[in-house]
Formats: sequence, C-alpha cells, structure tokens
Amino acid sequence: MHQVLPVLLVLCALVCGVWGSTPVALLHGIFHGSEDMDNLTMWVDTYVPNVYSRNIEVHGGKMGSMFGNLSDYTADFARQVKADPMLRSDEGKVNLVCHSQGALVCRGYAEMYAGMDGYPAVDTLVSLSGPHGGFFCGDEGCVLSDEPLARMLVDCAADMLAYDTWAQEAVVPAGYWKDPFNITSYLEGSLYMPYVNNEIEHTDSRMYKDRLLSLSQLVLMGSPIDGVIVPPESAWFGFYTEGSAQEASVVYPWDDEQTWRQDPLGLRALEDQGKVTYIDSGLVHRGYLENESFFVESILPFLL
Ligand SMILES: *[C@@H]1O[C@H](CO)[C@@H](O)[C@H](O)[C@H]1NC(C)=O
Ligand SMILES: *[C@@H]1O[C@H](CO)[C@@H](O)[C@H](O)[C@H]1NC(C)=O
Ligand SMILES: *[C@@H]1O[C@H](CO)[C@@H](O)[C@H](O)[C@H]1NC(C)=O
Ligand SMILES: *[C@@H]1O[C@H](CO)[C@@H](O)[C@H](O)[C@H]1NC(C)=O
Repeated sequence: MHQVLPVLLVLCALVCGVWGSTPVALLHGIFHGSEDMDNLTMWVDTYVPNVYSRNIEVHGGKMGSMFGNLSDYTADFARQVKADPMLRSDEGKVNLVCHSQGALVCRGYAEMYAGMDGYPAVDTLVSLSGPHGGFFCGDEGCVLSDEPLARMLVDCAADMLAYDTWAQEAVVPAGYWKDPFNITSYLEGSLYMPYVNNEIEHTDSRMYKDRLLSLSQLVLMGSPIDGVIVPPESAWFGFYTEGSAQEASVVYPWDDEQTWRQDPLGLRALEDQGKVTYIDSGLVHRGYLENESFFVESILPFLL
C-alpha cells in the first residue's frame, strides 16, 4: 500500500500538470481598468488549480472605457485574446469572467468571434452584473459612476442624442441604451445591442445564436441592490415592458409569447439544456471585485 501513494503522486504530477484548468480571461467594466480586476485575477490564480489567467484591458482602461463603441471594444478584446496562445485549453477553449459593460463585450466576443479564425471558443461565460437586457435610467437620473464627467456623459446619452450616429460611434453606453418609450428608435438607431441580442434580423443572426448555444455554461449574476445597472433585471436579460420605466420583467421577456416561441438568441434552448444559471448575488455593483468569500462560494465552482 505504501508504494501506491508515491506512484499516484508521480502520476498526478504528470497528468494534473498537463491537464491544467481551462484558462481564464477577465475583463473590466466602464470607468474601470484592468487594475479593478486585480483581486478577481488573483483569486482565480489562487483557487483554480493549474490555471493560466489574463486580466485584459480594452481601449486605455479607466477613462478610455467611456469613449468609443462596443464594436471596437469587442474587436480589441478579441484581438488580445487571440494574440495570447496560452488562452486556450487543449480543446481550444477559454473561460471568461467579465464585469458590467465588460460582460456585454465578452458575450459579443462569444457570439461574433469565438471558435473561428484562431479565436478560442468560449467554454463558460461568467457575467458579473452585465447590462444584457439594456440600460435606461432616463427618469430617475443615472448612476453608472461617481465621476462627474461620467455623469455628464450619461445624462447626455439620456437625451434623444442616444441613437444619433455620433453618440453611437463615440459614447460607449449608447451601445446599450434602450429607451422603453421608444423601442423603434432603439431598434433602428442602436448599433450594438439589437444585434448581439438578435432583436432585429441581420446577416449574422443565425451565427450569433449558434455560437451562444455552443457555450457550456452561461452564468448571469446580478442583484436588486446593484445600484448601477438600471433596471437591475437587465443582468438576467430582463428589461422594462415597452412604454414603462417602472415594471421590469424578471428575465428575458418570456411573457411575450412570440419571443418565447422564436427564441431569437437561443437563450431558451440554452436554458432547456440546463446551461444558463441565474444568480442573485445580493451584492452591490462593485461587490464582485472586493468579496473573496463570494468568489470562492459562487464564482469558483463554474471555473473548476
Ligand atoms: C466605432 O468607432 C469606429 C471609430 O473608432 C468607427 O470607425 C466605427 O464605424 C464605429 N462602429 C460602430 C458600429 O459604431
Ligand atoms: C421615437 O424617436 C423618433 C426619432 O428618434 C421620433 O421621430 C418619434 O417621434 C419617437 N416616438 C415616440 C413615440 O416618442
Ligand atoms: C480588493 O479587495 C479588497 C478587499 O478584499 C478591497 O479592499 C479592495 O478595494 C479591492 N480592490 C479593488 C481594486 O477593488
Ligand atoms: C460577501 O459575500 C458573502 C457571501 O459569500 C456575503 O455573505 C457577504 O455579505 C458579502 N459581503 C458584502 C460586503 O457584500
């Protein structure tokens, strides 16, 4: 018996070393840079065995993350993920852990780039309070950040300017600004979200859906006390019912029979396969970046 243990240890040293965990790429949100993801990156490195991780910064980080557009960000993120050959498992897959606006970018990556032309496929996507259903705070005034410049910009986006070409191309939050009182102008004017959400028919609709369906896990974390994402249900693809800024549907608008049947993004199909996990974290927006025990209890299991 005492000879078996050393043999097992040697075997594990060989096998466990070769079979590392799926690598992890992390992405920050708006008004944040990679430094804001340092804690999460450190916890990934500490708790996920044999993992390679990379904390990615898009478009100049903290201040840059406000200007530009989500298409550019997604391309920048994709370029950096592709450029790092360590960011893929033997099966060519990467796990993504992304905060806030970054979660939307990560989902954009999963739908637009993953698994082709040398871009690693996505295994598990962990979204920490991402505005997947849209963002609207026109009535209550927006938080998004304490930065005065940020507030000014968001207020500006809150104007009808939101769907102007200028705002769409140059102010990032315009990419997920969704006016429940004017869905038509959103669908016609917004250049990012109606596409990645397959709310309109476009040339890549089918591909986006197929790619989303190829995820092993989509983990959507949010919280009623989030404080930044409005409505908070957006983290789970929920949004206000058209014509109201009071009542938000809890998840994707399944109450809309037609959406449920057509399942344009494949979210229902993914859910039917048990691959979507909705989590109420009970955290405020920045909580994910500061709470080690939450990481260990609720995020880590999806990365093992
Ligand atoms: C994003 O911004 C770039 C300039 O950086 C511009 O060329 C491009 O058309 C914009 N794309 C969208 C979808 O707004
Ligand atoms: C929606 O916005 C468009 C232009 O942005 C405007 O022409 C239209 O009147 C608006 N509709 C409503 C219901 O406010
Ligand atoms: C990292 O976590 C500690 C507490 O766990 C917190 O005080 C600190 O602000 C966090 N850093 C960032 C950049 O969020
Ligand atoms: C951190 O997460 C734990 C759950 O793991 C929770 O009990 C605790 O309240 C959280 N702390 C804060 C400050 O939200």
